[in-house]
Amino acid sequence: MAIHPPEQTIWWNERIERGELVWIGVAFLWGVIMFSMMVYWHIDGKQNLSNEAYRIDPGVFEQRTEEFTKKFTVREDKNTGYPVAKPPAGGDVYMLARLWEWWPMLELEKGQTYRLHLSSLDWQHGFSLQPTNINLQVHPGIMHVVTLTPTETGSFGVVCNEFCGLGHHQMVGRIYVVEAGKSQ
Ligand code: CUA
Repeated sequence: MAIHPPEQTIWWNERIERGELVWIGVAFLWGVIMFSMMVYWHIDGKQNLSNEAYRIDPGVFEQRTEEFTKKFTVREDKNTGYPVAKPPAGGDVYMLARLWEWWPMLELEKGQTYRLHLSSLDWQHGFSLQPTNINLQVHPGIMHVVTLTPTETGSFGVVCNEFCGLGHHQMVGRIYVVEAGKSQ
């Protein structure tokens, strides 16, 4: 009965039941399989990205993004009025997250490789590039650098997929991809 203390109180001296041992074995093996899947998806699954991450002061990131945007803005987006920055092919690209926007918008060329720098100025946001399966948690103080090469032209939405308050659902950015030498 549970109201009385058990006779054998030092439980780790008791023999482990066979069935329990089997379950410990199954759970351990499953853990090993799940761990191997992380490696497998990284190599073959086109999911877990090979990105880099660095510590950065949010003020410094804001300043770099503003300088980048000032230098490379080619037009205002016709729907939103946001600046659209078109950096030289192969260059560094900046996009920041803050309540509640991704800023600026970008125009990249198909087949060119860029280094996309992402960070947040306030709290946690989620970078989700539609309709691809690219998702990154974006935190203040941490800068992701993603090496990316667009393979298709078009207009790709960036939505925030970490709940970040009242304007979360309006936090939408955009990356335009155009043929090399062309403009949107
Ligand atoms: Cu930013 Cu949700």
